[in-house]
Amino acid sequence: MLRRLINQCLRPLHLELVRLPSQVIPDPLPQAELYTGPEDYARLFRPWRSEATKRWLRPAVRDNTMLSDQKLYTILHAVKLTRAVPGDFFEAGTGSGGAARLMLDVSRELGVRRCGWFLDTFEGYQKIDPARDGSHVAVNQCRLAPLEEVTQLLRDELAEVHVIAGLIPGTLAEVKAEQIAFAHIDVNLHEPTLTATEFCLQRLAPNGIIVFDDYNWPACYAARQAIDQVCGRFGLEVFALPESTQAILLKR
Ligand SMILES: C[S@@+](CC[C@H](N)C(=O)[O-])C[C@H]1O[C@@H](n2cnc3c(N)ncnc32)[C@H](O)[C@@H]1O
Repeated sequence: MLRRLINQCLRPLHLELVRLPSQVIPDPLPQAELYTGPEDYARLFRPWRSEATKRWLRPAVRDNTMLSDQKLYTILHAVKLTRAVPGDFFEAGTGSGGAARLMLDVSRELGVRRCGWFLDTFEGYQKIDPARDGSHVAVNQCRLAPLEEVTQLLRDELAEVHVIAGLIPGTLAEVKAEQIAFAHIDVNLHEPTLTATEFCLQRLAPNGIIVFDDYNWPACYAARQAIDQVCGRFGLEVFALPESTQAILLKR
């Protein structure tokens, strides 16, 4: 009743009161105060809705990713920024392959030949550490497209593409990249985030970029802790993108 009344008042402002699914905000949540207070005015300018961005977000990309247009926009520009950086693409948590497809599309259009290493179990979470990841995640969650479909989607005449199935960290040994120009890390959980970040930082070329998908998402606080832990060891710092769950690391 109260909710309906509030929504009647909010409707003229195009706002709606909604209940968040309980698993999104785990309890306990380290530094819970960092997640409160949306700054909505920061969201008035949305260049990811422009025609210039939309042309990159073709169905092969958009229909095969969990990422919003806003997040794809970040990846698009980070990949463009690393145009002159030597090295390969790397992604931990390729899911259905849409973000990886975008990386390959941008590279192709820029005339850059890169090798791509795209890793996932292709069966969702297969190993969880409840003590670190929290009790709100479970084995087999986050199951997206099967390996065969993703391999097909990422076929590319210009790039040497390696789609690697299995659990990170084990599969990192199959990645033969000597240098990485751009990496996207989106595995949500502590151990694969920690090991994939470490792997990338050991190989990230000067001016290379890592985009972390899960840094500011409360349900993935264990990924944020892993990122801070590894980056701290390398004397590096990420910056969190406002109003997004993404964070960025630029290596100088
Ligand atoms: C949020 S989804 C990735 C979404 C994807 N980047 C996209 O563009 O839609 C997280 C992925 O991490 C994968 N994953 C989680 N733990 C993993 C591990 N230890 N090794 C490999 N993949 C893992 C899951 O299978 C899932 O596909």
